[in-house]
Amino acid sequence: MSRKLLLKNAHIEGIRFFEAYRKNGGYAAVEKALRMTPEELVEQVKTSGLRGRGGAGFPTGMKWSFLAKPEGVPRHLVVNADESEPGTFKDRYLMEYIPHLLIEGMIISSFALGANLSFIYIRGEYSWIPDILEQAIEEAKANGFLGKNILGTGFDLEIFVQRGAGAYICGEETALLESLEGKRGNPRLKPPFPAVKGLWERPTVVNNVETIAAIVPIIELGGEEYAKIGVGKSTGTKLISACGNINKPGVYEIDMTISVEEFIYSDEYCGGIPNGKRLKACIPGGSSVPILPANLLLKTMNGEPRLMNYESLADGGFATGTMMGSGGFEVLDEDQCVVKHTMSLARFYNHESCGQCTPCREGTGWMYRILQKIENGQGTMQDIDLLWDIQSKIEGNTICPLGDAAAWPVAAAIRHFRDEFEWHILNPELCRTQNYGLAGY
Ligand code: NAI
Ligand code: SF4
Repeated sequence: MSRKLLLKNAHIEGIRFFEAYRKNGGYAAVEKALRMTPEELVEQVKTSGLRGRGGAGFPTGMKWSFLAKPEGVPRHLVVNADESEPGTFKDRYLMEYIPHLLIEGMIISSFALGANLSFIYIRGEYSWIPDILEQAIEEAKANGFLGKNILGTGFDLEIFVQRGAGAYICGEETALLESLEGKRGNPRLKPPFPAVKGLWERPTVVNNVETIAAIVPIIELGGEEYAKIGVGKSTGTKLISACGNINKPGVYEIDMTISVEEFIYSDEYCGGIPNGKRLKACIPGGSSVPILPANLLLKTMNGEPRLMNYESLADGGFATGTMMGSGGFEVLDEDQCVVKHTMSLARFYNHESCGQCTPCREGTGWMYRILQKIENGQGTMQDIDLLWDIQSKIEGNTICPLGDAAAWPVAAAIRHFRDEFEWHILNPELCRTQNYGLAGY
């Protein structure tokens, strides 16, 4: 059984409110942290080995230590709650059910970073959650954990919640900052990174909701103890939102030592595939990461069980591996059609492209139209090569990772399921009337 750090109190009635949260040990980590120096806190986070939980897996302590500290210039912490990656809903769970964990993590993190004004930028579609967060902020303030002179230490902190307007691109950190400044959410060129020039050109750390929540157990346990959980560079626990063809969709906390097979089939997690269907493929880290067929999903290249962690999921690079990404774990059974699934993702990325770079603006729409043609039984063999060519010209040639995110699913689908694309082309009549999954698998 995986150890629970973030969700350990999730089952307690009323944990959403200050009283129950505090009664169950809440805000003790703030009391501990405010007795330490900001430098000591950054060291603890570095020692913990925590990696960003939004998708990129960048070491959090390192990001914090990059924060520029020019004299007299305010610094900010911005929590990225614009969780929009298809298949990803773990941050929603945290904010909805244990909002004080995020607020507690923000107080500690803001103190460590020297920020007195911090923000939560939340996706517009999570329309009911800002009220929950704002109530938690009010409760924390009423109890002396926010506002002026927190716990008599002289540290001041205000937290504001900003609602997005429903654009996926605003989850890209620089687009988020543009939007927070009141502008259109167009990504900026990096460098400079936000740690040097972020919100209103001030040094800013942008971290995901789960990353900031994980600061609480790191301070409770100490960085060294936290680092002992997990394996290798995948330390601590990770929230996974599981969906698709599984018996028990939901949000699970895992300690990154369990195998993918155990995660899919054990009753503790996904509980297997409904109706005894066969596992066909999985996208383990949100829609942007490469899809893997069952044979590559369950074993690494040297035949060992593939584990639910950053290194093992990536084993073999994109030829035979994928990514942990945002932890949005989507399972496809034997009835699912990969061409149709890829087409649906291509439509999504085309719709969400901000349009600043030509390869992304034009390429995503082009890929969508070709995939639509193939799915509708009107494709040719040359279309598969053209699709491959287009995706390869998007990857690495755009301002922000949305271009890569649109290209990778297409590349992986062709790499691992080329026969399925060919079946659509060779069976135009059949594919107008039924899924490849039902017909050809
Ligand atoms: P990235 O790898 O460019 O950056 C990671 C973080 O490290 C950023 O905060 C960046 O500012 C910082 N960083 C990197 N090098 C730095 C340096 N030299 N100095 C200072 N800071 C530095 O990746 P990015 O664009 O932040 O995230 C992409 C990932 O986001 C994708 O892999 C995808 O899985 C995920 N994603 C998650 C979504 C969600 O809903 N959770 C939505 C869309 C994508
Ligand atoms: Fe906009 Fe796409 Fe370019 Fe990102 S890659 S800046 S979403 S056009």
